[in-house]
Amino acid sequence: MTEKNLARFYQAAQEVWSQLPPQARFRPLEDGKVLARHAALMEGWTEPLVQGFYDTLFAHPATARVFREGERPAREKTLRDWYLRTLRGPFNGQYFAWQALVGLVHLRRGVTNAMMAAMWNWVTGEVAKRARESLPPEEARALEDAWRRLAFTVMALIAEEYLEAYLEALALTWGEDPRAFVAKAQEVAAQLLAKLSPT
Ligand code: HEM
Repeated sequence: MTEKNLARFYQAAQEVWSQLPPQARFRPLEDGKVLARHAALMEGWTEPLVQGFYDTLFAHPATARVFREGERPAREKTLRDWYLRTLRGPFNGQYFAWQALVGLVHLRRGVTNAMMAAMWNWVTGEVAKRARESLPPEEARALEDAWRRLAFTVMALIAEEYLEAYLEALALTWGEDPRAFVAKAQEVAAQLLAKLSPT
């Protein structure tokens, strides 16, 4: 788990969480139990997942460019720690605040939400494939469903905090209130859309 002070991110995570309809988001109790049931099995997938994740990123120029020379071992450790913490739970405020922080960390390093979403797709595909190979169909399906809900929820947290931090950084640069920035963005979006309408 990160050593950073997560205070600001508790609120950010709560704000995003409240935007997700309960039927469409991760269910900490129910899904947490499914993950806990299979944590030992999933722990055995750690190394192939970590290696496959970075092999995929390093094989593609746009994502490989994000990394500094010699950085891979440190990044593997970050992902390993994150994966093991995720498997073991608990899914509490601290965990979700940390996921929101990842948006800010990614912003600093030029990791786009597009790259992040694509890798979530890769991770959920791997987990589903391995679940089907190792578990009876019903349990495999339960694990896939719980993991998918976690994936989309964490993706939402990372992506929203990335955007919030982006707007805040721009607002600070220009000495503006970030809320005024959001209102301005809506206004300009309406103008841009109006230009697209046939006259
Ligand atoms: C499934 C998608 C992803 C997840 C769950 C994830 C998760 C994380 C986590 C937990 C951290 C550490 C945050 C902290 O505690 O400081 C992190 C940092 C980082 N991630 Fe990701 N990440 C994902 C996708 C990506 C992708 C696609 C890239 C690159 C193309 C990437 C590159 C990085 C980099 C460079 C850091 C920053 C390390 C630093 O400067 O401290 N991540 N990520």
